[in-house]
Amino acid sequence: MPSLQPDQIYQLLRNLTSPVVAITAERGGKRNGMIADSAVRASIVPAIPRLSVYIHKFNYSHDLIFETGRFVLHLLRDDQFELIHRLGFASGRTRDKLADVPHRLGTLGVPVLDDCYAHFECRVANVMDTGSSTCFLGDVLDVGHGAAQSATGSVMTAAHFRANMPPEWRAEYEALLRAAQAYAAERSRDIRPTVWRGLHGRE
Ligand SMILES: Cc1cc2nc3c(=O)[nH]c(=O)nc-3n(C[C@H](O)[C@H](O)[C@H](O)COP(=O)(O)O)c2cc1C
Repeated sequence: MPSLQPDQIYQLLRNLTSPVVAITAERGGKRNGMIADSAVRASIVPAIPRLSVYIHKFNYSHDLIFETGRFVLHLLRDDQFELIHRLGFASGRTRDKLADVPHRLGTLGVPVLDDCYAHFECRVANVMDTGSSTCFLGDVLDVGHGAAQSATGSVMTAAHFRANMPPEWRAEYEALLRAAQAYAAERSRDIRPTVWRGLHGRE
């Protein structure tokens, strides 16, 4: 048995969260964006740039990415709180969250946000099922900085977001986190073997 309480273990694990990123996807003309703090570099080979990110299955973005094999991951500046609230606190299943967010379609046909620190256009190379989420491994096919004034300063970290979000958002943020934890608690032990179709040339 671990010597720490589950909450203490979770607080230690929080040190492993990533910068806060915005992830966009597109399927059949429908564009969407969400927020994640579970993205890391997944290759040390400069000529084979890769990243990975865990996305819960209840998120609309999960289905868009799983079905198209394409996404764009954006590093954000440390003042982009409003964008995080817009994309990360409500689902795009019932609303167009990108309607008022300036963007263009990138080389993969996926939205690239004008205002960000930098963006990575990715094609899914493989996936891993965790029961409650999918870990997507992405080949980075194109990269860009945000508008000139955006690409300076610091990137938004999870700790910076949690410490500095407007106080009126905190109760909602914590309620959404508890709901996601309840969903994950029910499904995390049901790990399925998942073979990514791209590995078998069926894409
Ligand atoms: C700071 C922050 C970090 C988040 N990290 C993740 C994450 O790593 N993975 C995930 O699946 N959802 C994460 N979320 C939750 C999604 O962004 C949220 O459920 C969003 O509404 C999903 O939108 P969609 O249903 O339109 O895809 C995070 C939200 C916030 C605010």
